[in-house]
Amino acid sequence: MELIKKIEELKKEKNAIILAHYYQNSEIQEIADHVGDSYYLSKIGQESDAEVIVYCGVRFMAESAKILSPEKTVLFPVYTEAPCCMEFMVNENELEEFKRQNPTAKVVCYINSSTSVKALSDVCCTSSSAENILKNIDADKIIFIPDRNLASYVAEKVPEKEIIPWAGCCNIHDKVKMEDIENYLDTDITIVAHPECTKEIRDASHYVGSTSGILSYIKNSPEKEFLVLTEKGIHHQLKKDNPDKTFHFLHMICGSMKKTFLETVAESLETFKGEVTLDEDLRKKAYIALENMHKLG
Ligand code: 13P
Ligand code: SF4
Repeated sequence: MELIKKIEELKKEKNAIILAHYYQNSEIQEIADHVGDSYYLSKIGQESDAEVIVYCGVRFMAESAKILSPEKTVLFPVYTEAPCCMEFMVNENELEEFKRQNPTAKVVCYINSSTSVKALSDVCCTSSSAENILKNIDADKIIFIPDRNLASYVAEKVPEKEIIPWAGCCNIHDKVKMEDIENYLDTDITIVAHPECTKEIRDASHYVGSTSGILSYIKNSPEKEFLVLTEKGIHHQLKKDNPDKTFHFLHMICGSMKKTFLETVAESLETFKGEVTLDEDLRKKAYIALENMHKLG
């Protein structure tokens, strides 16, 4: 309780807000000013008039907040410990070569990538905005990096566009196999999956969507029991929204999402540990891709 009080006082003193992703530890989701999916958080950080943002998520999310709000102090106290694995799945040289091989294609880059890869892309997307972006982008041929599963998911939703995928994936979602879910098939349990899961898992699911999509689907569903194929942290919000429903999970835990605790937030607010700084040229280029995401998404 004392730590929570301290965080509240520091927030007032520094004019700060706390943003947290649905995969964060429960104690962090409870003290956050806003909890959301990566699209929502990228907008809310930019729209807020707070001077300081404490970001509780993974590195690309905090960097995206800084790209969009250079005038704000963005604190990401676990900077070196909490990358998303997809930040390493494509680098600038590989992307430049891929662009040379496909000169007429535009590049749509999943927001779960590094700032330097964003800077070489035309538009960013999140899982909740990818379909709209593919529909609205002014190009027929699209290089989609780095998640092959999200790429195949949007290719099915927007068949009129030619999508050239990269071979990356989220190690946590991609590892789910049919044998992990076979006990749930042909039962009364409703299966929901994040689009970072493979095609065979998505095809076996009753609903596929982003973290916020999964939350609203389950809230509005008359069904009572669900297998949730995404990171376990979402259980916190699911239970709050649906105290009478039952949830099953596989062992899907994103280590990087679990690095932030109340102590981490308090220390960062007090000392400004983990302030995000970016090269200004790179930031400006990456800004265009993120702004295009908000325009087209
Ligand atoms: P959302 O955009 O659905 O929140 O997903 C982010 C993410 O990292 C999924 O693994
Ligand atoms: Fe990245 Fe996967 Fe963790 Fe999401 S769950 S942040 S995609 S490593």
